[in-house]
Amino acid sequence: MQDSFNRTISYLRLSVTDRCDFRCGYCLPREHRDFATPASWLSPAEIQRLAERFVGLGVRHIRLTGGEPLVRKELLEISQRLSAIDGLEDLSLSSNASRLGLMAADLRAAGVSRLNLSLDSLDAARFRQITGNGDLHQVLAGIDAAREQGFAPIKINMVAMRGINDDEVEAMVAYCRDRGLALRFIETMPIGSGGVAASQHYIPLSEIEQRLRQSYRLSPAALRGSGPARYYQVDDSALVLGFITPQSQHFCDSCNRVRLSVDGQLHLCLGQEHRVDLRALLRAGASDAELEAAIVQGIRNKPERHHFGQADSQIIRPMSALGG
Ligand code: 5AD
Ligand code: SF4
Repeated sequence: MQDSFNRTISYLRLSVTDRCDFRCGYCLPREHRDFATPASWLSPAEIQRLAERFVGLGVRHIRLTGGEPLVRKELLEISQRLSAIDGLEDLSLSSNASRLGLMAADLRAAGVSRLNLSLDSLDAARFRQITGNGDLHQVLAGIDAAREQGFAPIKINMVAMRGINDDEVEAMVAYCRDRGLALRFIETMPIGSGGVAASQHYIPLSEIEQRLRQSYRLSPAALRGSGPARYYQVDDSALVLGFITPQSQHFCDSCNRVRLSVDGQLHLCLGQEHRVDLRALLRAGASDAELEAAIVQGIRNKPERHHFGQADSQIIRPMSALGG
């Protein structure tokens, strides 16, 4: 499946809820109430039907996202339905890890093979501040539960924020190295009011990279992933570090993904409003062929790039509506 800029689309990020048990300031305003109504949510069977169309058209990797996917009641059923699709090579999940202690084993059994987990601080008070109400110990226990279940690789995502957690970079390196986790740094993105507010803490990752190079030797590494992270091996250890730079060095030229929101909108770019209402088609009784034609047509209209940082490019929806 190709768009009009010759990019092959093989990766679907599929949001199973727009709700979350955290309130990370860069994602959701504390008082956020504007969630999709459950009647508009795709059911597990509807998600499966759409996912089968995408796989039929060439998608090979699906990532379950949110909000926080583990708050969706039918998550295990959805995972089972998706992992059984013929032709899908990879089912992964992004999570804040708060409920992984309870669910890691069931998720593995349901066919999820890889995890990306958010962790912005190792200090409990600071962690609570960043996430609104997150319990660091519960999250660390969730990460340990995932390790015990043998998910591989497990990638830890840290949103780097000046004056908030940039003094913890070395501590995070040590935490991940000791536990066999990959560590990825992410630049804040100006999406939704939370992201815009967080922009004052933006750090270009080149700064963090330079700082790390004073203490560690970084050599280019390959790590299995679908995305734009640049990876380095640290010294001679097994630790891999990734840098994701949507602001300072956008990677739109090699974009391979589209996103499906919980209410069935196919979003063609995280930083643009272009979308296709697949739910309306689905619920109007469209055939498989009609759904596939709508997806192909939508992907032809995938925008060339985002315009983060330009005045007229503000995206209003919170990041939680699309799961990053
Ligand atoms: N900027 C960058 N990343 C964000 N995320 C959410 N909001 C933003 C933002 N404004 C991503 C982070 C976080 C995950 C849940 O979503 O990677 O860890
Ligand atoms: Fe929840 Fe993730 Fe948004 Fe934090 S960043 S509020 S964990 S969806």
